[in-house]
Amino acid sequence: MDFTKVVNKRHSVRQFTSQPVATDIIKEIVTVAQRTPSWVNSQPWQVYCARGTVLQKIKDAYRKADQTGQASQPDLPVMSRKEWAPRTQANMKQWRHGIVHHFPDFDEAHAAMTTASAELYNSPVILYVTVPQAAPDWSIFDAGAFAQTLMLAAANRGIASIPTYNSVRFPRILHRLLNIPADERIIIGVSLGYPADQPINHYHSQRVPLSTVLHFS
Ligand SMILES: Cc1cc2nc3c(=O)[nH]c(=O)nc-3n(C[C@H](O)[C@H](O)[C@H](O)COP(=O)(O)O)c2cc1C
Repeated sequence: MDFTKVVNKRHSVRQFTSQPVATDIIKEIVTVAQRTPSWVNSQPWQVYCARGTVLQKIKDAYRKADQTGQASQPDLPVMSRKEWAPRTQANMKQWRHGIVHHFPDFDEAHAAMTTASAELYNSPVILYVTVPQAAPDWSIFDAGAFAQTLMLAAANRGIASIPTYNSVRFPRILHRLLNIPADERIIIGVSLGYPADQPINHYHSQRVPLSTVLHFS
């Protein structure tokens, strides 16, 4: 597929069908992602594939953690929205406004978002990307680039995706159920699958004008 088409085709899908993603396709997508550049070619990433029974156990454990009021403890700290710079806050506000107004009313939007989030988007696969605990911030940069290459490779194969903080909120559960070594830091979970034909998936996020991003001197 044409590169620009692939880039534009990728968008976050928040409700997947139950159709599984073939193992060969997962392998192909991760192989492409391995071409991602990294600091001195350190290739700091590891990928842990959750699907089937194990993914169901993760979803059940997350639900239980939420029901018992456990606080999220992601490996990367989360910053309160009010602490973000004004221009980034404005972008987040615009996104919230955009997705909510894509539904007939606020209650329906809220219900759809809450259910999708609680079910970890019902995706048949989540690929968890980790880097060693003993790594500089540059490895997090590398893992982000890796995740984007992975999602573009997926889009090129007709596979939808979403990267989520939501899926990495309880690292202890993931270490236990996916046998992730204690010295690995869990950076992101990337859900993969086929998009359900739902309003939540029909929203395509906006981007700010180029002139507010690109600066020539
Ligand atoms: C690091 C990261 C974490 C994210 N976590 C979530 C999440 O927990 N839940 C969610 O619905 N979307 C999540 N997203 C998706 C973003 O909301 C989405 O990428 C953004 O709104 C732009 O939309 P697009 O991906 O459709 O282009 C996350 C994205 C990134 C890059």
